[in-house]
Amino acid sequence: MAASVLFIFFIFLSQLYTPSIAHLQSLEGFISLSVSEKGLDFVKDLLIDRAVSALTPIELPQIERHAKIPVVGKVHIVLSDIIIDHIDISSSFIESGEAGVAIAASGATANLSMNWKYSYKTWLIPIEVSDEGKASVQVERMEVGLVASMKNHEGNLRLSLTECVCSVEDIIIKLDGGASWLYQGVVDAFGNRIESAVEDAVVKKIEEGIFKMDSILQSLPKEIPVDDISALNVTFVYDPFFSESSVDFNINGLFIERSKALTSQCHHGKSQAFASCNGSSKMVAITLREEVFNSASLTYFYAGVMNWTVHKIPDQSILNTADWRYAIPQLYDLFPDDEMNLNVSASSPPIINVFDDHIDATIYADVIIGVLDNSKAMPVACISLVITASGFVEISGNNLTGSIKLDGITSSLKWSKIGDLPLNQIQAVILTVFEAVLLPRLNLHLMHGFPLPLFRGLKLQNAKISCTKSKITVCSDVEFMEIYKFLAAIQSSTAVFSQGPYDI
Ligand SMILES: *[C@@H]1O[C@H](CO)[C@@H](O)[C@H](O)[C@H]1NC(C)=O
Ligand SMILES: *[C@@H]1O[C@H](CO)[C@@H](O)[C@H](O)[C@H]1NC(C)=O
Ligand SMILES: *[C@@H]1O[C@H](CO)[C@@H](O)[C@H](O)[C@H]1NC(C)=O
Ligand SMILES: *[C@@H]1O[C@H](CO)[C@@H](O)[C@H](O)[C@H]1NC(C)=O
Ligand SMILES: *[C@@H]1O[C@H](CO)[C@@H](O)[C@H](O)[C@H]1NC(C)=O
Ligand SMILES: *[C@@H]1O[C@H](CO)[C@@H](O)[C@H](O)[C@H]1NC(C)=O
Repeated sequence: MAASVLFIFFIFLSQLYTPSIAHLQSLEGFISLSVSEKGLDFVKDLLIDRAVSALTPIELPQIERHAKIPVVGKVHIVLSDIIIDHIDISSSFIESGEAGVAIAASGATANLSMNWKYSYKTWLIPIEVSDEGKASVQVERMEVGLVASMKNHEGNLRLSLTECVCSVEDIIIKLDGGASWLYQGVVDAFGNRIESAVEDAVVKKIEEGIFKMDSILQSLPKEIPVDDISALNVTFVYDPFFSESSVDFNINGLFIERSKALTSQCHHGKSQAFASCNGSSKMVAITLREEVFNSASLTYFYAGVMNWTVHKIPDQSILNTADWRYAIPQLYDLFPDDEMNLNVSASSPPIINVFDDHIDATIYADVIIGVLDNSKAMPVACISLVITASGFVEISGNNLTGSIKLDGITSSLKWSKIGDLPLNQIQAVILTVFEAVLLPRLNLHLMHGFPLPLFRGLKLQNAKISCTKSKITVCSDVEFMEIYKFLAAIQSSTAVFSQGPYDI
């Protein structure tokens, strides 16, 4: 019977080496997650660990039959309350290929307990003779193998079991009490039936387990909240791609307004095949295309939060026309010693570009210069700015975080109620305002970042970030931060992704 497990592997492995066309096709999806062989091993150990404790106890159906025992005659024997108490798995393997992933456990052992009972009647002894007791069965060398695959079903993953076999090589039966002939009778009459009952029960349990995992996958949320304003669209796009070296998932990955579809945004451009960690020894590679960052900028822009009013610069007095006397003399002449405010607002969504080794942002903003006359702000001029900034990204916990610094600023006068303005001088003042007030605020938000789509309870470990043209790749190992949270999530199938709103 062990041959069938090997057969599955044979079939499976033979499918591995058919050249893959799917891999070459261009994939849509702005965040991709690639689980390497090392990552698959991590998943396998977790599943096996989990499966073994979830599998037992297994209750097997009662087995009964009439057996012909030499000398004694025809005996009715019943084995009941057959329970697999414990399964031990000594070694296991995982292999990925186009057909999905194959997992095999070999050299597994299991312990069963049961009750036995017999009765017989012969013409010699007209009254019924019966006895009962307990027995234990040691299952030796059990092999379990399965092939599972995943498909995209309306943005969720559908897990299916394509093959599942269990084969028991050998069992050792031990009876407590009973007549001496009984032992041989049970072994002869029930050996194979116990073996196949164990095999059937294990396969059925695995099928149930896969069914349960499938329903968990079906109920994964399609959005991860980032804060009050935005959420990350974690809808799966395309079928997962299984290859010899990795399993790759694509998710939409764009920022959306929280609980509000913002579908009219256009994100053009075809994605290239996703970057991997080049056979590095990391478990996962998460690739984010620059559209992800641009969708964040669109979302926050349309949410109307990219505007700020500046009254004062830290460690300096409130903005006053006197301070701006040299930059805008006519303002001081018209409103001597009046307080001022600046309303800064993005005039279009900032544009983010990822290049090899660095990230650039271009921010278009309007600054309305206002004078407080009788505590009413009166707009006097508006200056348009094009700000170029460069940034870098980091991993903090499971968040992708970052910060930016200003590279350059150009300004033009949009309108003015006070005549022509010396832009060079005003630009210098505005630059000070940006560096002292707005940049620190922006960086405070960027410092929080947003959570990468990972299962709850998993934590990135030794993450490394690399930028290549138009995408950022995070290569990392994962570990369990709080295994109980992960298990609870798996069991309750709610809030599986890590999340947590923060204030913007
Ligand atoms: C299973 O049974 C064997 C033999 O009776 C025993 O040595 C072993 O400890 C048992 N294992 C468990 C986990 O009960
Ligand atoms: C989320 O992504 C899916 C797949 O790309 C898309 O069909 C859906 O419209 C997106 N949801 C929102 C709210 O934009
Ligand atoms: C992977 O290796 C190829 C060739 O060696 C290189 O062109 C590519 O940039 C590498 N990708 C990453 C993410 O390091
Ligand atoms: C930003 O703009 C929105 C709408 O355009 C407005 O409701 C909000 O008060 C503004 N915030 C600031 C700080 O100016
Ligand atoms: C700046 O924005 C604030 C809040 O939206 C508003 O009260 C004020 O009148 C604006 N000032 C100017 C000069 O537009
Ligand atoms: C990660 O982001 C979430 C929400 O976006 C926030 O609650 C959390 O504090 C951040 N964690 C770190 C380590 O920055």
